[in-house]
Amino acid sequence: MNNRIHNFSAGPSTLPTSVVQEMQENLLSYQGSGMSVMEMSHRGDLFMEIIEEARTRIRRLYGLSDAYDVLFVHGGASLQFAMVPMNFIGEGESADYIETGTWSTKAITEVRIQNKGVRVVASSGDREFTYIPEAFDFSPEARFVHITTNNTIRGTQWHALPETDGVPLIADMSSDILSRPVDMDRFGMIYGGAQKNMGPSGTAVVILRKDFVERIPQALPTMLSYRTYVEKESMFNTPATFPIYAISLVTKWLEETMGGLAAMEAVNRRKASKLYGVIDEDDFYEGTAEKNDRSLMNATFRLRQRELEPVFVKQSLEAGFAGLKGHKSVGGLRASIYNAVSEASVDVLCDFMDAFRRKHR
Ligand SMILES: Cc1ncc(COP(=O)(O)O)c(C=O)c1O
Repeated sequence: MNNRIHNFSAGPSTLPTSVVQEMQENLLSYQGSGMSVMEMSHRGDLFMEIIEEARTRIRRLYGLSDAYDVLFVHGGASLQFAMVPMNFIGEGESADYIETGTWSTKAITEVRIQNKGVRVVASSGDREFTYIPEAFDFSPEARFVHITTNNTIRGTQWHALPETDGVPLIADMSSDILSRPVDMDRFGMIYGGAQKNMGPSGTAVVILRKDFVERIPQALPTMLSYRTYVEKESMFNTPATFPIYAISLVTKWLEETMGGLAAMEAVNRRKASKLYGVIDEDDFYEGTAEKNDRSLMNATFRLRQRELEPVFVKQSLEAGFAGLKGHKSVGGLRASIYNAVSEASVDVLCDFMDAFRRKHR
């Protein structure tokens, strides 16, 4: 028995209950050490094992070859928006960016702030970022193509990667990292804040191809150079120890309880299809993203009777749900169904939405 609610928050978001319980059991004394992970040296054997386990499990889950490094970088995904151009776009070079919503726009802004070369080769801004573009005007000279694989606010997701003619992709995967297998060969780098699919906020996970490290200029501030994280194994300074501990447990849960990323994706697909099934049943609810581009992680929707949306939010809170209000910039409703949101919670939400419809139709 526990007093957990059905948590559909967009991030920070729910963690697997078994993981939270394991952290609770070890909070006073991690493995008989008499201290919690928060209280121990990041250079001691116990923490070194934890960070190694987190790295190894991410490597195994994605099937990474030796060509990739797994890094833990402070500053969340937003710092990577700035570090990516700083590290990988040199004098006279440029990168292609695809704009699919708020977070990709922010990534583009960070390139412009640094006066680095950037071309926005496609944007879905013409229709309020409700779809994933299909036509691009890539440059063969681009250092990389940047995409946001899942658009947390607008509820769209790339279901197939854009064809870039050999130019490597860099992807912000903050809201769908570790939710499905990916073809890593296409990527020079992927990154994501921990706080949706991996653990509490406080670190970003960066998976970086080794040949990208060679491009990094020497004259960068130490903490803003990915080379530092590679050479010092993410331990140049004190890493975010507790979030990394949580990542080690979440990735263990992914491997040992859920059965890996292909199995996790199958569950995620089932959850999403149940939820979109309820949304699409008639015109009481309206999905906001184009059907083919709908996210498996963040289902965004509205009520045809807009005035009922605050009622929906209020009653959902009373019924034991959290996080169903849409992002403040777009309004409406959103159910984030990340890896750790159980299928049982989605079933309960579907029942609540059915009942709400029957009552208010
Ligand atoms: C797709 C995406 N990218 C970036 C961010 C920003 O992440 P952080 O808060 O780790 O900087 C978010 C946060 O919600 C996000 O959803």
